[in-house]
Amino acid sequence: MKVTLKVFRYNPETDDKPHYDKFVVDAEPTDRILDLLEYVKGYQDGTLSFRRSCAHGICGSDAVRINGVNRLACKVLVQTLRSKKITVEPILGLPVIKDLIVDMESFFDHYLSVIPYFVNDEPPPMKERLQSPEQHERFEDTTKCILCACCTTSCPSFWSSEEYIGPAAIVTAHRFIFDSRDRAGAERLRILNDIFGVYRCHTIFNCTDACPREIEVTRAIGEVKKAIAIGKID
Ligand code: SF4
Ligand code: F3S
Ligand code: FES
Repeated sequence: MKVTLKVFRYNPETDDKPHYDKFVVDAEPTDRILDLLEYVKGYQDGTLSFRRSCAHGICGSDAVRINGVNRLACKVLVQTLRSKKITVEPILGLPVIKDLIVDMESFFDHYLSVIPYFVNDEPPPMKERLQSPEQHERFEDTTKCILCACCTTSCPSFWSSEEYIGPAAIVTAHRFIFDSRDRAGAERLRILNDIFGVYRCHTIFNCTDACPREIEVTRAIGEVKKAIAIGKID
């Protein structure tokens, strides 16, 4: 089948403003949008710029807007889209570097701000630090995050202020706050109880809808808000 790709193009170094280019591509129903972008880059316009690495939904590098919805280009099949006219644009709220590539620096600054690693200065036991299945279950969901930014860049609170820490950073914080072996939960809650912290979330749920790992993002944010409100991690 023939599909028409309408792709956002912008090179801030040479273009006054963004525009869209159209490419007609022969596609199989089982082709992924990433396959179509690779085809365009390989055979029609080598200047098209986009990020990708694993092509299997693991690395999180190819988040884009497909027909207005944040998705990973490697996880969307042509046959799952209603129209054979497919619009591909960069994720919103971050500056465009070129075409579909955005500057992720502020996104990763927010990520780094929540102490995104295990903290425990107590002497290690002879074997591993034990944890029950129930204790692990408490944060299992948020371990699945691949830092793709689909959640944060679908959030209207983030669109209105890049200073909002954003759902992805809160998901990362959640993964450690509720880990029974970690000891920096209180410090992370202090960081998130900030003017640009969790209370910038107005429970809009776009983040949950956008997450390609099906993490219950809004629920995780709610659990962090509750821990701050009651002053304890339970
Ligand atoms: Fe991506 Fe989901 Fe992690 Fe957000 S929570 S960065 S949408 S994997
Ligand atoms: Fe934004 Fe998700 Fe909250 S979309 S407002 S972070 S529920
Ligand atoms: Fe790695 Fe799509 S290219 S998640």
